[in-house]
Amino acid sequence: MLTYHILTFGCQMNFNDSERITRIAENLKFKKVTDRFKADLVIVNTCGIRQSAEDRVIGIVPKLRKKRPNCIIIITGCSAHRKDFQKKLVSATSYFIEILKLPQFLKELAESKIKIVKQEQEKASSPANPADFFKISPLYSSPLSAYVPIMTGCNNFCSYCVVPYARGREFSRPSKDIMQEVKQLVTNGYKEIILLGQNVNSYQPEPSKNEKIVSFPALLEKISNISGDFWIRFLTSHPKDMSDDLIELIARSNKITNYIHLPFQSGSNRILKLMKRKYTIEHYLQLITKIRTKIPQAALSTDIIVGFPGETKEDFGKTAQIMKTVGFDMAYISAFSSRPETVADNLVDDVSEAEKKERKLILTEILEKTALKNNQSYLGKEVEVLIERQKPSLAKKHTYLGKTETYKNIRINLNANQSVKIGSFCKVKVTEAGIFGLEGTL
Ligand code: SAH
Ligand code: SF4
Ligand code: F3S
Repeated sequence: MLTYHILTFGCQMNFNDSERITRIAENLKFKKVTDRFKADLVIVNTCGIRQSAEDRVIGIVPKLRKKRPNCIIIITGCSAHRKDFQKKLVSATSYFIEILKLPQFLKELAESKIKIVKQEQEKASSPANPADFFKISPLYSSPLSAYVPIMTGCNNFCSYCVVPYARGREFSRPSKDIMQEVKQLVTNGYKEIILLGQNVNSYQPEPSKNEKIVSFPALLEKISNISGDFWIRFLTSHPKDMSDDLIELIARSNKITNYIHLPFQSGSNRILKLMKRKYTIEHYLQLITKIRTKIPQAALSTDIIVGFPGETKEDFGKTAQIMKTVGFDMAYISAFSSRPETVADNLVDDVSEAEKKERKLILTEILEKTALKNNQSYLGKEVEVLIERQKPSLAKKHTYLGKTETYKNIRINLNANQSVKIGSFCKVKVTEAGIFGLEGTL
């Protein structure tokens, strides 16, 4: 029996792709092992968003090969096609396979049609497309919470970003398939559905007789009409495309959670232009005002890049100011990393690594202040919590961990005669607030 292990890097999209690959492997009766050094087959699902993501793979794979000279190592995912990445891994890798072609490849491997020859390249030649790939049902990792992609790829070509090259042009899943998947999940007791897309606002399925959905808010509304007790989250929204309809829908729906991830990337219009983001910071702030007016309890998170080529201290100061003005609950702050193929790769990466680090630190300090302040506003209030798991320590057997509707981690302390069910919604009174989480009692 073939044992396998999947190593996944990158975003939720890759995580979900790996769940589909897991389904295929299990259907083929491969046996999953948790230790990659014990697997006959290791699939590495790569990410190329920053150089550091590729460097981790370059660090891991040769070591694995050294310990396991005969195991089959497949490199797949967002960087598998990149020639200079391949070059660094070629001696340690068995195959580089596009993720869409991997299901067919694994089937052929199971049937041993493919003779395993080390260093042989790109074997699966059958045509593959996202539509077929999405038809594979994921083997979800969690019994409560599921990622459901509504689209893949991106047409935006922000100047720093590899996603349009890694995942190709936008493809939207037919709404019927999405509805079917969500209905099935809800029937099976799932409580949190996280819709995924690089830019969910440009969801646009192929027009057909059966396809009546024409926009993301229309899809979201349809999903929120599915009966059952569950939360809907979604990411990512692009500020240039987020509509008033969407904000109003979130405000009036009790299933769509009041948590919005809206990357602004930079507070400087000059840098936004160089990034080809196609909005101004004034437009972004207007959106925030609309959100805060219609959904006062909303939690907000964002993505920021510091040290984009040519970012001056003044440009950076504008980013820091936006952080203070908006007061985010969470921010994913990255140092600019020059990526091959992208437009920004032709610009001079002129902000030093030390300066990038310093700028990240300054933004992190602002975030810690605003997140703490926002969390403190929950003190003494009652919030709805999805119970996710018990704290894994015997001494704390009356402590559970969960999420609020606004995507905050919360620890729930029960007294000896109380109990909660994992996967249930509970009312929790908030007693403590920290930078990255809350604490409370039933
Ligand atoms: N589709 C999403 C972003 C997906 S990538 C959007 O448009 O907002 C996730 C985040 O990685 C980006 O928001 C950006 O902040 C960061 N990122 C992307 N390319 C990067 C690069 N070359 N260097 C540093 N950070 C990058
Ligand atoms: Fe990348 Fe921009 Fe597309 Fe987001 S919208 S995935 S940052 S190109
Ligand atoms: Fe995601 Fe990385 Fe690909 S962020 S889309 S896994 S390049």
